[in-house]
Amino acid sequence: MKRIGVITSGGDAPGTNACIRTLARRCLYDGVELCGIFDSWDGLLKDKVRPLTRDDVTNIVQRAGTILRSARSRLFLAPGDAEVAKAALAKHGLEGLIVIGGNGSQTAAHILAQSGYPCVGVPKTIDNDLAGTELTVGFLTAVETATAALDNLRATAEAHNRVMVVEVMGRNVGWIAVECGIAGGADIVLIPEFEFTLEEVCARIEKRHTTLDRNYSLVVIAEGAIDKVGVIDPKGTAQDKLGRPKLGGVGPMLAREIEDRLGYDARCTTLGYLQRSAAPCAADRILATRVTDKAYDLLLGGESGMMAGLQGRDVKPVPLADVAGKEKRVTRAWARLAELFG
Ligand code: F6P
Repeated sequence: MKRIGVITSGGDAPGTNACIRTLARRCLYDGVELCGIFDSWDGLLKDKVRPLTRDDVTNIVQRAGTILRSARSRLFLAPGDAEVAKAALAKHGLEGLIVIGGNGSQTAAHILAQSGYPCVGVPKTIDNDLAGTELTVGFLTAVETATAALDNLRATAEAHNRVMVVEVMGRNVGWIAVECGIAGGADIVLIPEFEFTLEEVCARIEKRHTTLDRNYSLVVIAEGAIDKVGVIDPKGTAQDKLGRPKLGGVGPMLAREIEDRLGYDARCTTLGYLQRSAAPCAADRILATRVTDKAYDLLLGGESGMMAGLQGRDVKPVPLADVAGKEKRVTRAWARLAELFG
C-alpha cells in the first residue's frame, strides 16, 4: 500500500493524538502516504481529506482531543452505506483505512471490511466497553481524572458533613465508576450493569454515619445507572443526532433522594466532559502507541477486518466480528471489589 487513510470517530478520548502520531511516524519511515480524514465520516463525504505532514503530528502526543476532529455519524446505519464510503475513499486514492474509535466506529470498520475494503480498528473510548481488548485508549486517563476529583471532593464533603454524589460517564457500562471508586475510596458505586434500590443505598449511608460514626460519604454513580423502580432514570427526553438519549442527570436526582430520605445534606458534582479532555496519562500514550503500531502492521501486512486489542500484556489481532455490536460489561467480581470499601 502506498496511500492509506486515518479517521477518528465517536466521542473523543485522551490518547487519540498519540495514535495518529504513531501512524504518521510508521508511514513516514516506510514511505507510505498517510491522509487524515477530518470531521469523521461526514467529513469523508465532504472531501475533508488531506495528507498529514510531519508538522501536523509534532507536539501532539501530550494533547487531548484529536487533530482530525471527531463526530458521531449516521453513515453505515443504512444498507449500501459501505459502497458510498468506499467510493469516497477511492476518490482520494486511499488503499486502506485505520479507524480509531469505540463501539460505533468498530462496527463501521467491520461493515467496511466485510464489503471488501481493507480496514483495521484501533480501540479508543473512555468508556472501556469494547470487547476484544482489556483496555481502550482514553480510559485510564478518565479514571485518573475521576480519581483526582474524588480525592478533592472528599475534603469538602468531610468539611461540611455531606454526602457527595459524583456522577461519572459510562453510558451502558460502569468501568470508570468502578475503577475510580476503588482508587478514590468511594463508599458506594452504582453502575448500569446492576440495578440498585434507593432503600439499600440509604441504608448503607445511614449505617456508615451511625454505626461507624462517619460524618460524610462519597457515592459514585455512572450516568447510565438506574434503580429498580425507575426513580433514578438516566433517560430524559433529549436525544443526540443518532437518536440516543442524552445522558447526564442521575447524580443530582440521587443527591435529592438521599437528602429527602435521610435528611443529610447531599450535593452532586457531575464530572462530564472533563473526563474526556485531560492530557492523556503516560499509560494511555503508551497503549495508544502500541495498539496503533500493531494496527498499522496488520493493515500493511494484508490483514483486514481486525482490531488491535490488548490481551494480558500483549497486543493481538482480534476479528472485528468479535468486537462489533458486543459490549464488555463490568463483572460481578469487579463490582464486588468496589463494594468492599463501603
Ligand atoms: O464516548 C463515550 C461517552 O463519553 C459516553 O460515556 C457518553 O455517554 C457519551 O460519550 C457522550 O457523548 P457526546 O455527548 O459527545 O455525544
